[in-house]
Amino acid sequence: MEIKSICCIGAGYVGGPTMAVIALKCPDIKVTVVDINSDRIAAWNGPLENLPIYEKGLAEVVAIARGRNLFFSTKVDQSIEEAEMIFMAVNTPTKTEGEGAGMAADLSYVEACAKNIARVSKTDKIVVEKSTLPVRTAEKIKEILFEKSNGVHFEVLSNPEFLAEGTAIQDLFKSDRVLIGGDETETGKLSVQALVNIYSKWIPKEKILTTNVWSSELAKLASNAMLAQRISSINSLSVLCEKTGANIDELSKAIGMDHRIGSKFLKASVGFGGSCFQKDILNLVYLCRHYGLEEVAEYWHQVIKINDYQKNRFAQKIIDGLDGDLKGKKIAILGWAFKANTNDSRETPAKYVAFRLLEAGALLHVFDPMVEEDKIRIDLHDLYKNTGKSKDEIDFILKNIEIMETLEEAISEVKAICVLTEWEVFKNYDWDNRSNSKAKIFDGRRIISKTVANLDRI
Ligand code: NAD
Ligand code: UGA
Repeated sequence: MEIKSICCIGAGYVGGPTMAVIALKCPDIKVTVVDINSDRIAAWNGPLENLPIYEKGLAEVVAIARGRNLFFSTKVDQSIEEAEMIFMAVNTPTKTEGEGAGMAADLSYVEACAKNIARVSKTDKIVVEKSTLPVRTAEKIKEILFEKSNGVHFEVLSNPEFLAEGTAIQDLFKSDRVLIGGDETETGKLSVQALVNIYSKWIPKEKILTTNVWSSELAKLASNAMLAQRISSINSLSVLCEKTGANIDELSKAIGMDHRIGSKFLKASVGFGGSCFQKDILNLVYLCRHYGLEEVAEYWHQVIKINDYQKNRFAQKIIDGLDGDLKGKKIAILGWAFKANTNDSRETPAKYVAFRLLEAGALLHVFDPMVEEDKIRIDLHDLYKNTGKSKDEIDFILKNIEIMETLEEAISEVKAICVLTEWEVFKNYDWDNRSNSKAKIFDGRRIISKTVANLDRI
């Protein structure tokens, strides 16, 4: 089966880049990315330098495919109806209320998509789970699709996305693997093959793995859990290094040179952030509890607990380094994005550290090369809202933050400089000859040479 038209619901960090690459590599397929957020769609259709998502190489891909066979639209129903294959790439955040709040994935956006697909479809469709979902979600999706369908046949596939932000285009061009889960029925196999045919346009066949639906769904959660577990493992050892005089970078190198372990994801840091690791592990923990596997749940929960410990430990290091008194002291926060090369700040460690410092009375000068001022303020506003404070109280606290245009501006006149994101500009800065040499530096990413004066590192 050769697919000629695709609709992707959700024009976010996954839907936008993945569909842009599919459109680039498959010029014969019409790819329409739809979203209910009209501002986001307008930005996708706007100037290439202002796309809603910053990813190296993305603008170049969009420049070639947009208007040719790649389209961004708010016409959700129409695009669903016209497509043979529909990807669901909507958000699946941690639930904030109801059963499983704070742990389980909120599937309301995915369920809304399924209802929408069932309501408007007049011809058979292949529905692809691109969002990260708990194992056995396809069962629920099928229930919704078939309950509301008018005799239309739906095939549900799982095709989780493994791209990392900051390297999305590179990851999509040269994926380690593409995972496709489908039913082992005749129509299931044909649908899997249809999706294999699409990826085969640029991914070597041996890297396209086909499995049953449940393995595919669970492999995604498990992959993220394994990656995050490595970071928490190395971070749990960084504090032991401090106590014993060992050096965590030397430890990472020595451990990673064992090819059975490998060198990636062993960089000690202020903790992992981003929209997925925490939510996906909490989701895994919730699933284990659901199946009565308390020991397994606790094992994975520990990865999150170490991450929280590390963020707090870094904030405490800064507070102790300034003799426990931050009242009225200016502190520079360098970096707000959860990692370098992205404008995304979801679950960024920076906001938790900033929160602790503000609570201790500090005045913050924040500088990030990519994250916009509004976003920084919204991040903190949302964090404070969870503490039950009113809007007026929050606005009053946030007067203690100034967003700076340059690194130089941010570090002048401060008592401490905290590095929270590993941006190149921070790595390449001449720290030995900085203007404000009296300020203590707290490096949460270990990117500054240990020979620099007045430096403390995570
Ligand atoms: P996102 O929040 O950037 O984008 C989701 C988009 O879906 C939003 O623009 C939202 O408006 C839209 N949407 C929600 N409900 C809709 C509906 N009913 N109809 C139309 N549009 C709707 O999210 P994201 O970062 O792209 O993540 C999407 C999924 O992919 C999540 O499950 C996530 O776990 C997974 N994932 C994310 C990454 C990543 O790096 N961000 C990587 C791999 C997998
Ligand atoms: C992660 C996975 O790497 C992707 O494969 C996955 O598709 C994605 O989650 C997802 O499901 O959303 P992402 O969160 O974009 O990608 O970024 P990562 O590169 O994994 O970094 C996550 C966090 O870990 C960042 O805060 C980063 O700074 C931190 N990190 C990473 C470390 O602290 N140390 C390391 O050695 C590596």
